[in-house]
Amino acid sequence: MNDKALLIALAPVVEENLHLHGDAAEGWQPQDLVPWDDGRNFAFLGGEDWAPEQSTLSEIGKLALTVGVLAADNMPSYHRELAKHLRIGPWWRWVGRWTAEENRHSIVIRDYLVLTRAVDPVALERIRMTHMTNNYNAPAMHLIEVLVNAAFEETASSIRHRNTAKLAGDPVVAGICEKIATDDELQRDFYANIVVAALDLVPDQAMRAIADRVRGFKVPTIPLADGRDSTTDLAEAGIYDPARQDELVFRPLLEKWNVFERTDLGVDGEKAREELASLRV
Ligand SMILES: [Fe+2]
Repeated sequence: MNDKALLIALAPVVEENLHLHGDAAEGWQPQDLVPWDDGRNFAFLGGEDWAPEQSTLSEIGKLALTVGVLAADNMPSYHRELAKHLRIGPWWRWVGRWTAEENRHSIVIRDYLVLTRAVDPVALERIRMTHMTNNYNAPAMHLIEVLVNAAFEETASSIRHRNTAKLAGDPVVAGICEKIATDDELQRDFYANIVVAALDLVPDQAMRAIADRVRGFKVPTIPLADGRDSTTDLAEAGIYDPARQDELVFRPLLEKWNVFERTDLGVDGEKAREELASLRV
């Protein structure tokens, strides 16, 4: 089935999951989680500019939140990638909803980082400009691959935020990251549920998409100061380790999709499933 036909065939499932998501997602307020009393002006308005000793946040907390805000700030790039594919009816409303949620994540982390002086705001702004200008280009994907990939990315993001909550050593950071992780998990469920419907509709085609995306999956890497990159630093900090992707990202979703127990596959689907079995899990 081509992508246009799939968009139409899956639209009722998208509509249903849009409602499920709306009912389950807590409409939390980013300003509630930021300790505004700790803030003060920068030199431009007569206060004092940032200096490293102004923050007591752990290095792990600074790293993980810097990656978190830059990943969310690059949301217009992801929005463009999604919007290329999901342009009709409930799909389009989902793109809007997802984008607004990601924007809330960047708002709350940025407010926290700048207000508590956890990181150099000038350096952060410089990296944000570079990151957004360099843009993000996803590999060319068909519709089901886009959905599978998004389910993997939201899973990875929720793991990153849950670990940041645990390892940053700060209750305010934990509060922020738990909220974001809960949103990520609901977003993961949205994409994963549409993949369930795609598997029922076109099992061989969906199995092929899953095998290809497991093989090709990479979390987006964020450039950091001094030429470091987020993937290496997060792995070293125990926040997100790509070596554990099979166990933590792929396996739970392959189980949800009932990949290894399905009995409705044709020759092409069986071939894709064999690849999956030998690939990683
Ligand atoms: Fe997310």
